[in-house]
Amino acid sequence: MKLIYIDPPYNTGSDSFGYNDSFNHSSWLTFMKNRLEVARDLLTDDGVFFASCDDNEQAYLKVLMDEIFGNENFVTNFVVIRAEGGGLAKQVVKGHDYLLTYAKNIEKFEPLRKPKDIRGKIVKKDGKEYWIEEDWLRIEFGKYGTCYYEDIEKIKGKKKKDEIDKGIEAGQYILLNKGINKTIVGRYRALDEDGSKFYSILKHLNAGGKNELKDLMGKDIFPFPKPTALLKEIIFGATFFQKDKDAIVLDFHAGSGTTAHAVLELNKQDNGNRKFILIEQMDYVESVTVPRLEKVLEKQGGGNFIYCELMPYNAVFMDRIQSAQSTVELLDLWRDISKDSVLKWYVNPQKPEEAEAHFIAIGDVDKQKQLLAELLDKNQLYVHLSEIEDADFGVAEADKVLNRAFYGE
Ligand SMILES: C[S@@+](CC[C@H](N)C(=O)[O-])C[C@H]1O[C@@H](n2cnc3c(N)ncnc32)[C@H](O)[C@@H]1O
Repeated sequence: MKLIYIDPPYNTGSDSFGYNDSFNHSSWLTFMKNRLEVARDLLTDDGVFFASCDDNEQAYLKVLMDEIFGNENFVTNFVVIRAEGGGLAKQVVKGHDYLLTYAKNIEKFEPLRKPKDIRGKIVKKDGKEYWIEEDWLRIEFGKYGTCYYEDIEKIKGKKKKDEIDKGIEAGQYILLNKGINKTIVGRYRALDEDGSKFYSILKHLNAGGKNELKDLMGKDIFPFPKPTALLKEIIFGATFFQKDKDAIVLDFHAGSGTTAHAVLELNKQDNGNRKFILIEQMDYVESVTVPRLEKVLEKQGGGNFIYCELMPYNAVFMDRIQSAQSTVELLDLWRDISKDSVLKWYVNPQKPEEAEAHFIAIGDVDKQKQLLAELLDKNQLYVHLSEIEDADFGVAEADKVLNRAFYGE
């Protein structure tokens, strides 16, 4: 992947988002560490990683990312202005998030770019657009004061003069007359390959993200989507040059799918062929993320994507545990579970009856749920790729074909 962006749960302690956002602090860091380590390996050598966060975890995430990416690969910690004014606050009204940014390898990473503020004449040459930069050849490096063509040899030496003459012949420079004995050396700069560096403060209001999604879908379907403009700015910035217009962008905390939305819009704008891979744990993929991307494609008049679900194994039991309402229901479930080989190795499934009395004695449905969830073998929540040919799992032929295609086999 050329670019990975994530917007993980900020660990605000609130449970109003529909997904878990109140981890114990060290669990949150472990959850992040495991995923960041894999993500780093997935980046290309010139790739870049962005993680949104706020004050809840920023300082800890920065240290963790320094460890995983190496602090020499730290690019910056963007401040992203997300709100203006107002609101109830215990101490200070907070109007910003952070965007921690790391390169896989800072030596191979090209700075993020944005379209340049062009201050010159635009011309067409061999079907391509250029602007002519006039104030680049200075008398003294780093200071204003243009060196005229007539003075190059005197000020910069014969070697430089020859180099400029060669450049003029090759069509790299153009001579511009600015009065008697005043000729400027103009430099052609390709319009679409010439960008400015980023400033460390970005501004994209969350309210914008919310409204745009509401407008697109006709109703409010997701609590805190990121503004598409933020994603467009960083994705465009990291895929600015023509050679990167077919980059793969990954977001493994997809939510409502803002990252994919941004990729689609950018491709439309600059004729790019960037691809996206999104991952999401919640079922709202079907009611929010997929319909959103379908709407975007519909508006753009074409394009496609595929989506699929991991094949559940133990996850079936996990869902049943989570939705159970009573001890009786959980006991039934326990009987089912103990018949299958889905428990952790230290649980003895031969004597489920003996365990029942202890289980009932717990006397609290939530605690009973927690215990059952704990006993399930989490390494088998989904069917492993290595088991794809195992007849017991009954993987459909079409699914096998899809998996082989995905893994490039
Ligand atoms: C803050 S939201 C992301 C919002 C998204 N950037 C948008 O604009 O809509 C975080 C998302 O991460 C998802 N998530 C949390 N843990 C995950 C995991 N282990 N795997 C995949 N998705 C996860 C949550 O379900 C939630 O949708």
